[in-house]
Amino acid sequence: MRHKILVTGGTGYIGSHTTVQLQQAGFDVVIIDNLSNSRREVLDGIEAITGIRPEFVEGDCTDIETLRRLFREHPGIDGIINFAASKAVGESVHKPILYYRNNLGTLLNLLECMPEFGVKGIVFSSSCTVYGEPDKNPIDESAPIKAATSPYGNTKQISEEIIRDVITSGAPVKSILLRYFNPIGAHPSAKIGELPLGVPQNLVPYVTQTAAGIRKELTVFGDDYDTPDGTCIRDFIDVNDLAKAHVIAMKRMLDNPDGEKLEVFNLGTGRGLSVLELINAFEEASGVKLNYRIGPRREGDIEKIWANPEKANTVLGWKAETPIRDTMASAWRWQLTLSNPNEKQPS
Ligand code: UD1
Repeated sequence: MRHKILVTGGTGYIGSHTTVQLQQAGFDVVIIDNLSNSRREVLDGIEAITGIRPEFVEGDCTDIETLRRLFREHPGIDGIINFAASKAVGESVHKPILYYRNNLGTLLNLLECMPEFGVKGIVFSSSCTVYGEPDKNPIDESAPIKAATSPYGNTKQISEEIIRDVITSGAPVKSILLRYFNPIGAHPSAKIGELPLGVPQNLVPYVTQTAAGIRKELTVFGDDYDTPDGTCIRDFIDVNDLAKAHVIAMKRMLDNPDGEKLEVFNLGTGRGLSVLELINAFEEASGVKLNYRIGPRREGDIEKIWANPEKANTVLGWKAETPIRDTMASAWRWQLTLSNPNEKQPS
């Protein structure tokens, strides 16, 4: 029988790429999204890629009655992938209540509904931010959780604890926590990608918007870190690789009723790339020279962090395999599509 999956935040960046992978793997998908940070047209992009339009409910997961109605109207949902969350680190410092309400309220409501409607498993989007500044790299799942440096990061830590406590209480649900490193890029078709509203906070959308002439220049936040070229190091992972891991995690939960009730995996490439190395990769992939300057450090930035993804590699049988050049090329194709929606881009 085909599994039916609820994808919360499914019109968002990672949610839309995961919906594509789920549909291509034969899952039926119901999306709920309040469109606070995404657009309805994303559904057209998903349909153009897969030939299937996912069921869509416009609604807010912080309202439990909206969720109950959804489960009643879409019976037979087996699993949930929870992407519905606010994710801007800086904004969370200024609007902590919004972040705790959105991110924790959504999770609590989903966990409350799961036994009521017989939903067996939930995949949760966590983040490498739970590790803080690592004592050593690459970092594996046994590394200590450090005090959060922002309300956003704290919601990820608390969410992991909430899920752990609910499972310990004997609730008939399973969960896989996925700790993402830095997801970047777009679908190779350039029909879906990242849609930052306003000025992008993250590196890659800022890079592509600068290259497209929407922003004057990119500021590299600091070149005096203790790294080979002085800029911060991250583990940039292609969003399509990341999306595939969710499909595997969901199958693992649903197909092994006697399997572990709670598991956690790092999702990264295992390779650290500096900000300057990423810019070089972009310039090579796009053929565009990027206008950037070195500026002061950004408050709260981690100096260097990259994953040890061995557990995901061996236990899930999953590996991030897209070369950085291809990822940067997809990010650029997507930017060109956004800038010139009527022009067909080279594939
Ligand atoms: C941050 C969060 C991460 C969260 C993600 C989602 C931390 C430690 N990390 O990732 O948990 O999931 O945001 O939004 O809180 N940079 C520039 N110029 C720019 C933008 C970025 O130089 O204009 C640099 C940053 O200083 C950093 C790197 O690029 O070194 C990556 O930054 P960004 O894309 O914002 O991601 P993180 O801060 O790693």
